[in-house]
Amino acid sequence: MNSFFWRQLRKIVFTFDAEKVHHFFYEILAFLGRSTVGRFVLRVISGTEKDRENPRHPLVCSVNGMLFRNPIGLAAGFDKDGRLLPALAHLGFGFAEIGTVTPCAQPGNSKPRLFRDVERFSLFNRMGFNSPGALIVSENVRWARKKGKLPENFRIGINIGKNKDTSAEDAAKDYRLAVTPFAGLADYIVVNVSSPNTPGLRALQTSDAIVKIVNAVRLEVEKWECRPSIYLKLAPELDELSLEDLLRCEKDMGIDGWVLNNTLGGYWKGGRGGWSGGVLGNLPRERLEKVRARSRLPIISVGGILEPREVEARLESGANLVQVYTGWIYFGPRWVRHLLKSVRKS
Ligand SMILES: Cc1cc2nc3c(=O)[nH]c(=O)nc-3n(C[C@H](O)[C@H](O)[C@H](O)COP(=O)(O)O)c2cc1C
Repeated sequence: MNSFFWRQLRKIVFTFDAEKVHHFFYEILAFLGRSTVGRFVLRVISGTEKDRENPRHPLVCSVNGMLFRNPIGLAAGFDKDGRLLPALAHLGFGFAEIGTVTPCAQPGNSKPRLFRDVERFSLFNRMGFNSPGALIVSENVRWARKKGKLPENFRIGINIGKNKDTSAEDAAKDYRLAVTPFAGLADYIVVNVSSPNTPGLRALQTSDAIVKIVNAVRLEVEKWECRPSIYLKLAPELDELSLEDLLRCEKDMGIDGWVLNNTLGGYWKGGRGGWSGGVLGNLPRERLEKVRARSRLPIISVGGILEPREVEARLESGANLVQVYTGWIYFGPRWVRHLLKSVRKS
C-alpha cells in the first residue's frame, strides 16, 4: 500500500469515530495474523516482504543482554489484548508492548474516549485502562508464541497497571497480580505509573511507591526460569524534583530501564485525557537527554515520532530503542519500513 493510497484511505477512515476504526482494523490485523497467507499479505502491504531474503538482519540490537530484531517497536495502548502479535511482527516492528494489562478485567472510561487532532498529527485519549484482564491477555500471548508465528528476535513487552478501584496502598499487590500469568511469556515488563486516565496513578511516581511496586513485581518474576527486565514508564510532564528523586534512587528502585514517555495530560472536548503525537513537540527528546545524562540504564524513547529524522535523533541522544504509536496511525503500514531504512543508512 503506497503512501498516496494510504492518504486517500485515511481521508475516508478519519470520517468515522476513532475507536470504532481502531476496532475495525484491530480485527482485520488479528485475522490476517492467524494464517501463513495472512502474514504474507501483511508483509506485502508493509513492504517488509522485500527484506526477507536478507537473513542477517543488519538492525538487530542487544539491550540488557537480549537481542531485538530491530530498534523500532509499537508502543503500549494499541494492542491491549495481545491478539495482534503475529500481525505486528510481520508489519516490520522489532518488538511490541502489550497493554496496559490490569489484573482484573475492566471496561475503561465511558465513550467517546479517543479523538484525532489531524492538523497537529495528534491523538487525544482517555481510555482508562480498558483491559480483558491479565489471564486472558496471557493466553493470547501464549497462543502467539506457539511455533512459527513470530520471527526470530521479535520481542514482547508486557505493560502492567492497577485496576481503577484499587487504592494506592494496595497498588503493589495489583502490579504483582497483573504480571503473574506472564511467566515464560514476557521478554520485558513495564511498570506503568504514568497514565493520566486512572485517578491517582501518577501520584505513584515517587521512589517510595515505586520501590514497593517493583519489589512486588520482582518477587514474582524471580521465580521464573528466565527473568525479564523491568522498565519504568514515566509521564512527560513529571516535575523536575520528582524526576531528580527517581534518578537519585534508580538503584534502590531495582529497575532495569526507562520508558520515556507516556501521553501528556491535558483537556480536549471538555474532558481530561492524554495527548500523543505532534503535540508533544520536543518534550520527549528533552526528557530523554535529561535522563541519559544521569542514567546508564537502557532507555526506550517514545512520543511524538513523526519522521525518520526523529528516530535517528532519539538513537543519537542515547535511546537504546524507540517506540511509535500516533505516527503509525497517521502514516500507515509502510511507515515502519520507511523508518527502518533511515536507521539502516545512519
Ligand atoms: C489511544 C492510546 C492509548 C494508549 N494506551 C496506553 C496504555 O494503555 N498504556 C501505556 O503505557 N501507554 C498508552 N498510550 C501511550 C503510548 O504508549 C505512548 O506512550 C504515547 O502515545 C506517545 O507516543 P506517540 O506520540 O508515538 O503516540 C496510549 C496512547 C494512545 C494514543
